[in-house]
Amino acid sequence: MNAPDPTPRSPFEAPARPRALIVASALASDYTRLGEEVAAMEAAGVDRIQWDVMDGHFVPNLTFGADVIGACRPFATVPFEAHLMVERPDDLLPRYVEAGCQFVIVHAETPRHLHRTLGRISELGARPAVALNPATPFEAVEHVLDLVDLVLVMTVNPGFGGQRYLASMEAKLRRARAAIAASGRPIDLEVDGGIDPETIGSAAGAGADVFVAGTSLFRDPEGLEHAVATLRRRALESPAA
Ligand code: DX5
Repeated sequence: MNAPDPTPRSPFEAPARPRALIVASALASDYTRLGEEVAAMEAAGVDRIQWDVMDGHFVPNLTFGADVIGACRPFATVPFEAHLMVERPDDLLPRYVEAGCQFVIVHAETPRHLHRTLGRISELGARPAVALNPATPFEAVEHVLDLVDLVLVMTVNPGFGGQRYLASMEAKLRRARAAIAASGRPIDLEVDGGIDPETIGSAAGAGADVFVAGTSLFRDPEGLEHAVATLRRRALESPAA
């Protein structure tokens, strides 16, 4: 049974600590039976499912169109995140919201006017979120923290699953955690890339509280549920940032 997002999202209440939401990346799932995989991710206890949307331009890979996500929406009730790794996110926003994505994550490096794009996501009724590539400093988003519900610190260079976790991103995580605390807003601090039982504790200790995992979930020989529980336990065991 999937636990709904455990932390109330009151706009006036900072999330409780420690907190560890596990987000399954659909990138690592079996595309020949995506609906069943989505149902299995929910049954395994993930808090959300992330769709890695890639256009072959911003990143060298091509993945999920909005229609594919819309077709999978009825197979689960957990929130969907659309991670738009695309050159021109503005044109696509309505499609991914209509497909049933509650969170829309745009990269700080793509829209010409990030502040306006994040406002548009809110106007469409979705929860705005912003992602930072490894080389992009946290400062790139500090003037839009008032507009977002989630900041995603990439711990790999985006494009493919199964890459090595970049521990050098932990300094950025600590900077982000301090800025979020200072903002007083309940902003998720999410990491994505190379998250497994060996790396999640370090990412949590640096301040992350939402963890995207693909390869480590689907490769666990004891199955998805064991993988999700292991990740959550390792994150919660880590000393809170
Ligand atoms: C990178 C992708 C991956 C994927 C999860 O573009 O966004 O980070 O979500 O990858 P792994 O397999 O490392 O968990």
